[in-house]
Amino acid sequence: MYMNAQMNGKACQKILNFLSQVFEMLINPGDSILLDAPTYSGTLAALRPLGCSIINVPSDQHGIIPKALQEILSARSPEDIKNHSCAFPKFLYTIPNGCNPTGNSLTTDRKKEIYQLARKYDFLIIEDDPYYFLQFEKIQESNVNSALAASGL
Ligand SMILES: Cc1ncc(COP(=O)(O)O)c(C=O)c1O
Repeated sequence: MYMNAQMNGKACQKILNFLSQVFEMLINPGDSILLDAPTYSGTLAALRPLGCSIINVPSDQHGIIPKALQEILSARSPEDIKNHSCAFPKFLYTIPNGCNPTGNSLTTDRKKEIYQLARKYDFLIIEDDPYYFLQFEKIQESNVNSALAASGL
């Protein structure tokens, strides 16, 4: 989800307003949702009044751990999955780049694995990605080595 000034023609719309509207559209009381934990406190505040059940997905410095997500999903009964029951998570909310508050970013490989799980188990992925454009190019190891060599280290 890239929020910018063009969206809806509203120059100063805040990301949290958009997120709240998306959550209100998707969530019925009692629904389950998956959260990349720990997550932005504003998101938690937006979700709390909607009466959903939050399932925290463990993450590390490379973001959500796909194996942990797989374990959570496969623990659900096949009936819940098939019938889209509210015990089965409707969507996964994640901050994929420079997560607030952890600063972690999801790797491309993990993104692919998570996407495959979303297809297999049929849930949505909501990416709240305000920090995407703050990512700097990865420093090439060769550049680091030549800089070290030049400095005599
Ligand atoms: C991941 C994330 N989403 C949403 C917001 C809220 O953005 P805004 O202040 O534009 O509503 C923040 C603010 O810190 C954030 O870190």
